[in-house]
Amino acid sequence: MTLRGRRRKATSPTLHDKVVRRSSRAKWRRRSCWGCIAIPILALVFFGMVHVANVIMSLVPMIWDNAVDTDIFLPNWGKPNAPGEGLSSYPTDFTRDVQPIPCHSHNDYWRRIPLYLALHYGCTGVEADVWLFDDDLFVGHNTASLTLNRTLRSLYVDPLVQILDQANPPTAFTSTDLTLSNSTLNGVFDEDPTQTLVLLIDFKNAGDALWPVVYSQLSALRSKNYLSWTDGSTFYPGPITVVATGNAPFDLLTSNTTYRDIFFDAPLAAMYEEPRRNSGQGETGIVPGSSFDATNSYYASANFRAAIGFVWGNRLSHRQIELIRGMVAGARRRGLVARFWGTPSWPIGVRNHVWRVLVREGAGMLSVDDLEGASRGNWGRRKHWGWL
Ligand SMILES: *[C@@H]1O[C@H](CO)[C@@H](O)[C@H](O)[C@H]1NC(C)=O
Ligand SMILES: *[C@@H]1O[C@H](CO)[C@@H](O)[C@H](O)[C@H]1NC(C)=O
Ligand SMILES: *[C@@H]1O[C@H](CO)[C@@H](O)[C@H](O)[C@H]1NC(C)=O
Repeated sequence: MTLRGRRRKATSPTLHDKVVRRSSRAKWRRRSCWGCIAIPILALVFFGMVHVANVIMSLVPMIWDNAVDTDIFLPNWGKPNAPGEGLSSYPTDFTRDVQPIPCHSHNDYWRRIPLYLALHYGCTGVEADVWLFDDDLFVGHNTASLTLNRTLRSLYVDPLVQILDQANPPTAFTSTDLTLSNSTLNGVFDEDPTQTLVLLIDFKNAGDALWPVVYSQLSALRSKNYLSWTDGSTFYPGPITVVATGNAPFDLLTSNTTYRDIFFDAPLAAMYEEPRRNSGQGETGIVPGSSFDATNSYYASANFRAAIGFVWGNRLSHRQIELIRGMVAGARRRGLVARFWGTPSWPIGVRNHVWRVLVREGAGMLSVDDLEGASRGNWGRRKHWGWL
C-alpha cells in the first residue's frame, strides 16, 4: 500500500471537510515555516548590515589618510620660500604623533619628498643609492637619473643634521663624551626619541673608491655624535644608524677595529638555521662560522624571491615560513635585524599576508615601496569587531 493510500484511509469524513482541513493545515504549516526561515534571515541581514557598516567605517580612515597625506602634507615642497628650498624652513612638528613603524623606505629618493615623507609615515629606515662622480656622491637608481643638486649631502645628511639639531637644542646636549650620546640625544621621532633611523647607503659604482667619500660625507653627523657606533665590542645606538650595502667593501668597513659608525648589510640567506625542534639538544660549541655580528653589521638582508621563492596561490607554504623562521633565527642570534627586500607587492592580499608573516616571525624590517599601505597596517589588530 502506498503512503498516500494509507493517509486517505486515516481521514474519513466528507470531501469538503477534507479539503478545508487540508488547506488550513497547509496554510499553518506554510506560516510556521515562514517564521522559521524569516527570523534567521532577518537576523543574518541585520548582522550583515552591521558588518558592512563596520567595514565601511574602518575604510574611512584610509580614504581620509590618503587625502591628507598626498595633498596636504607639505604641498609646496621644493618651491621658493617653502620647505625643500634650501631645506631650511620645514615645519618643526612634521613627525608629531607619528608612531615609528619597522618599515624601510625602499628607493626613498624616488618619492616626491625624499626622507621627509618616509619620516612622516613613521618609517624607521630610508635608502639612498649613491654614485661617485667628480668626488661627490649623487643619489639615483641609475646614472641617467642623476642630477647635480641631488646628492647624499643635500638629500639626507644636511636635512638629518637640521632635524636632529632641532630635536636636540644646545642646552640639552653639552657632553662631548661619545659613550654618553645614546642617553642624551633625541632621535628624529617625537613620539619615540630613542628610535634610531637607519640610513641605508647602497654603493652603486666602485666600492673601494666610494668608501672614503661616504665616510667623509657623514662627518657632519659624526661630529655631533648623531651616529650609532661601536668600539669593536659594544654597540652604542645613536639617532642615525648608517648601513652600507651594494658594493660596500666589508674589508674596508672592518679595517678600523676600535671605531666604526658604518655597519654592513650582511647576507641573510646564508644564516638559515634549522628551527630547534628538540629543546634537549645540546648547543655548546655549535656556532656555524660567523663573522657577521653587531660589531660590524646591522641588517642581515635577503632578496625575498631568491631566498624564499614565489608565493603560489595566496599564502606562503609551510616550507617557506620555515625558511623565514630559520633565517630570522640566524640573524637574531648574531644580534642583527633581518630584512627581506623584493617582497611581493601585488595582489595587496598577498602583500599584506607576507608582511604579517614577516612581522609575526620577527623579521625586524619591512622593505616597502608603498609607505601609505605599510603605515595603514594594523599588524595583527582587527579593525572591526572580531565576532561580526
Ligand atoms: C639646483 O639648485 C640651484 C640653486 O638652488 C637652482 O638654481 C637650480 O635650478 C637647481 N637645479 C635643478 C635641476 O633643480
Ligand atoms: C649606551 O648604550 C650602550 C649599549 O646599549 C650601553 O651599554 C651604555 O650603558 C649606554 N650608555 C649610557 C650612558 O647609557
Ligand atoms: C679608527 O677611527 C678612529 C676615529 O676616527 C681614529 O681615531 C683611529 O685612529 C682609527 N684607527 C685606525 C687604526 O685607523
